[in-house]
Amino acid sequence: MKTYIFLFFLIFFLVISGYQNILNASAEENPCLKCHVKLQQPAKHIHAALKTGCEVCHTKEEGKNHPDDKKSIKLTQNMPNLCYSCHEASKFKGTVVHAPIMGGMCTSCHDPHQSDNPKILKEPIPEVCYTCHDKAKFTRKYVHKVINVIGCGTCHNPHASNNPALLPSSKTEICISCHKSQASGTHVVSIPGKRFHPIKGVKDPSTLKWIQAPDPKNPKRMIEIPDPNVPGEELTCVSCHDPHSSDYQKLFTAQRICLKCHKY
Ligand code: HEC
Ligand code: HEC
Ligand code: HEC
Ligand code: HEC
Ligand code: HEC
Ligand code: HEC
Ligand code: HEC
Ligand code: HEC
Ligand code: HEC
Repeated sequence: MKTYIFLFFLIFFLVISGYQNILNASAEENPCLKCHVKLQQPAKHIHAALKTGCEVCHTKEEGKNHPDDKKSIKLTQNMPNLCYSCHEASKFKGTVVHAPIMGGMCTSCHDPHQSDNPKILKEPIPEVCYTCHDKAKFTRKYVHKVINVIGCGTCHNPHASNNPALLPSSKTEICISCHKSQASGTHVVSIPGKRFHPIKGVKDPSTLKWIQAPDPKNPKRMIEIPDPNVPGEELTCVSCHDPHSSDYQKLFTAQRICLKCHKY
């Protein structure tokens, strides 16, 4: 029994002293850590760039004393070029670029040093998105199940994309990738003569602006026509279903969905 207790304390001591040595060594090797103690405590995910030391990203101005002069430490390059010195800039370009990327605000989502969240995010997904986007839009009565299961990443690239709304493919394709049986539009309504309700390739009438204009056949009469200055958007799955959440069943974008576009 005594041997076990002895062994236990021996191992305990070795572990503690070993751990202490690592901290001392890193503080000795890296004088910055002496004062910036927060960075001595390793988080679950450490940015690999830290292995190369603080100097890849921070530099002390010649002749100035840190920390007496707080502003004496500068970034080695402006943001986001600092990040692009190791991460290929082309990955952050596209026909649609997320606003914080354009502003070089990589650190609005990522901690440059370390974090307990994967991908060194300051907060987990989707919370990190709600720091700028209104959470209420994603938490209405009926929530699209994917959001709670896999977050935002399946449908949005956080940085940039060549599709609208930072999607990996078109608005219709992304939905069909999971909902194959809704691909043809047969699910909307059964129309006699094997015709299907359109789900793409036509204008969504609810995005047009209707104006009064003279009827070409009878110029004395006024009729409603779509405003030629308002091009309108293509009809897609999201004309009828909100991709995030809705107050109406089936994630409908309006309570009486057919009346959104048809006047019966
Ligand atoms: C003697 C203690 C000490 C040492 C050593 C030290 N710092 Fe600091 N550092 C401070 C204090 C105090 C501040 C100001 C308080 C704060 O912002 O946390 C500061 C602030 C900073 C800031 C923020 C500056 C700003 O503009 O707000 C950076 C970046 C920084 N230190 C980096 C470093 C780096 C890199 C090293 C190693 C080269 C280093 N520090 C070494 C004490 C120290
Ligand atoms: C990959 C580049 C990178 C490396 C490596 C790096 N930093 Fe930073 N650090 C930054 C950036 C970028 C900011 C500004 C953060 C912001 O704007 O929110 C920053 C901010 C800071 C700050 C002030 C804000 C804070 O988080 O407390 C301190 C202190 C700091 N760094 C210390 C260090 C020390 C010490 C090291 C080395 C152990 C280090 N950094 C390594 C990029 C880096
Ligand atoms: C000195 C080179 C260097 C710089 C500068 C640098 N990184 Fe990194 N970063 C790396 C390496 C190496 C990896 C690990 C390999 C990889 O994923 O590419 C990494 C990984 C990452 C990851 C993924 C982390 C993970 O856990 O998978 C993120 C996010 C990241 N960096 C963001 C940034 C941001 C934001 C900046 C600018 C503040 C930046 N990096 C600057 C070298 C760097
Ligand atoms: C709006 C929040 C946000 C901003 C701003 C942001 N990122 Fe990210 N980044 C993410 C998320 C979320 C992921 C994880 C994506 C995933 O796991 O699919 C990520 C992943 C990464 C990765 C890892 C990629 C990989 O394939 O593992 C790197 C590197 C990275 N970001 C660098 C940057 C750089 C550099 C900037 C600034 C130009 C930046 N990020 C700005 C949210 C952001
Ligand atoms: C630092 C603030 C910030 C954070 C954090 C942020 N966003 Fe954004 N995002 C914006 C701004 C600003 C816009 C442009 C204005 C708008 O559409 O609300 C935008 C637009 C978007 C768009 C529409 C892009 C377009 O051009 O159509 C999507 C999609 C998006 N964000 C997704 C996300 C996701 C997913 C996250 C979390 C990983 C996130 N955002 C986190 C600021 C942010
Ligand atoms: C099932 C796929 C899907 C998921 C999951 C998803 N989105 Fe979207 N999101 C879309 C589509 C499609 C659009 C385009 C909507 C439109 O054009 O009407 C969009 C548009 C957006 C926009 C811009 C328009 C707006 O409504 O403000 C933002 C911001 C956004 N999403 C953020 C997020 C965030 C944050 C998450 C995670 C909480 C998320 N999305 C999850 C598919 C998705
Ligand atoms: C990653 C897979 C995935 C993608 C992409 C996806 N969905 Fe879903 N969707 C689901 C899952 C899972 C459910 C829940 C199914 C269930 O409860 O049986 C669901 C449910 C739905 C429902 C039924 C909601 C209800 O309350 O009955 C609608 C409508 C819907 N999705 C529309 C869309 C639209 C529109 C898009 C494109 C913007 C889309 N989905 C993209 C996985 C996905
Ligand atoms: C013109 C409006 C409209 C369009 C466009 C539309 N839907 Fe629907 N969707 C409906 C209606 C109406 C229902 C309810 C059908 C029912 O109750 O049987 C529905 C139901 C659904 C459901 C739930 C099915 C279930 O079993 O509960 C899913 C998933 C769905 N649609 C996905 C899609 C996808 C994916 C697209 C694009 C390819 C799409 N919808 C386009 C009107 C539309
Ligand atoms: C987002 C707009 C929108 C919504 C919502 C919508 N439709 Fe349609 N609908 C259209 C468009 C566009 C057409 C094709 C153009 C036309 O013929 O007017 C169409 C065509 C039709 C047709 C004729 C198809 C044909 O080939 O002759 C019927 C029937 C129809 N819709 C029924 C419905 C029903 C029932 C609902 C509700 C479940 C509904 N629609 C919801 C936009 C919509």
